[in-house]
Amino acid sequence: MNTIELLVRKDQLARVELRETPAIPLEEGQVRLGVESFALTANNITYAAFGEAMNYWRFYPAEEGWGRIPAWGFASVLESRHPEIAPGEKFYGYYPMSSSVVLLPHRLSAKGFMDGAEHRAQLHSVYNAYLRCSHDPFYTPQTEGAQALLRPLFITSWLIDDFLADNDFFAANADGHSTMLLSSASSKTAYGTAFQLAQRAGIEVVGLTSDANLGFCQGLGCYHRALSYNQLDQIAAATPCVYIDFAGNADLRRNIHSRFGNLRYSSSIGGTHVTQLGGAKDLPGPRATLFFAPAQIKKRSTEWGAERLEQKLLQAWHGFIVKACDATSPWLVFRHHRGPEAAKVAYLEVLSGNTDPRLGHVLSLAPGAA
Ligand SMILES: NC(=O)c1ccc[n+]([C@@H]2O[C@H](COP(=O)([O-])OP(=O)(O)OC[C@H]3O[C@@H](n4cnc5c(N)ncnc54)[C@H](OP(=O)(O)O)[C@@H]3O)[C@@H](O)[C@H]2O)c1
Repeated sequence: MNTIELLVRKDQLARVELRETPAIPLEEGQVRLGVESFALTANNITYAAFGEAMNYWRFYPAEEGWGRIPAWGFASVLESRHPEIAPGEKFYGYYPMSSSVVLLPHRLSAKGFMDGAEHRAQLHSVYNAYLRCSHDPFYTPQTEGAQALLRPLFITSWLIDDFLADNDFFAANADGHSTMLLSSASSKTAYGTAFQLAQRAGIEVVGLTSDANLGFCQGLGCYHRALSYNQLDQIAAATPCVYIDFAGNADLRRNIHSRFGNLRYSSSIGGTHVTQLGGAKDLPGPRATLFFAPAQIKKRSTEWGAERLEQKLLQAWHGFIVKACDATSPWLVFRHHRGPEAAKVAYLEVLSGNTDPRLGHVLSLAPGAA
């Protein structure tokens, strides 16, 4: 059985190759999983754009100059040389864009395992965990697409909202009101954040987006206002506000820091505007600060305990996917791309940014995937 994988040039993300290689025999303790489906969003492009700086290339190393972009999805065990993992079992986790992957399970529990491969030992544990679908309270077979696409993004959204609330929305004005400005408002992570923020009293949630995606953002209903990037002048310059930046666009960040004299906090979450990224030095106002989701998870796990945190996340998740996947007016419509060529076309479409924000791309590289 061969493995098919999608590789990209690290310095030229639009250069893609599909490669087919014979599967290597398993060593003692290893398992081979067939990657059945994975989600592809701007988040994966950000993994690639920040691959060197933030170590994302190190999860699945490739030959010099090439990279395997990681993606969240589902895989089932095809072959096992681990005594506690049986063929057929399904796991949610962080996989390469491949038809199959070899992992070395260690620290097994009823919930799943960690990949014990040596090259991953120094990488953040949140990416090294593989969860048994049979024991995962988030899992239902009907919602695999939503889980692959939205789960890692919504957990971040929830944590951003929680972090802001934990910091009293960075000292709103005297009457307790404050405005949250979200860039790339059409992105799933941004609208998940808006969904949470909109449930808070005294908070105005403003979505900033491109002209092409303005109608989509206005229709979501989780933004009190949606404006295009060139309509910042419609927000009073003295407004006490927080910038929650999913776009990473250097010019937009400068415009926001320059216009809003009452900017209380500037949180850098993402970099969807992959060709307009840039440093945040010498900006007026607060320092742009990278949001580190694992730090907020750790804080809440310590304060609340892991179980209570999971319960809260689960409850919020259920509320969110009911809204996002509502049958009559969904925020998200799934588009499945099956087989290597279809996956390559989908990757290039997502990379270009020329994709309908309502679409959620779910890929499978297995040839003849159903
Ligand atoms: N720090 C963390 O822990 C964390 C966790 C999750 C996600 N994130 C980040 O949040 C961001 C959003 O991720 P997502 O997966 O939610 O995105 P998504 O749903 O795929 O976002 C799509 C939107 O991003 C913008 N976009 C995408 N590609 C573009 C391009 N080539 N040029 C210009 N705009 C482009 C467009 O929004 P507009 O037209 O509205 O600008 C587009 O509608 C990513 O950068 C991701 O890495 C960070």
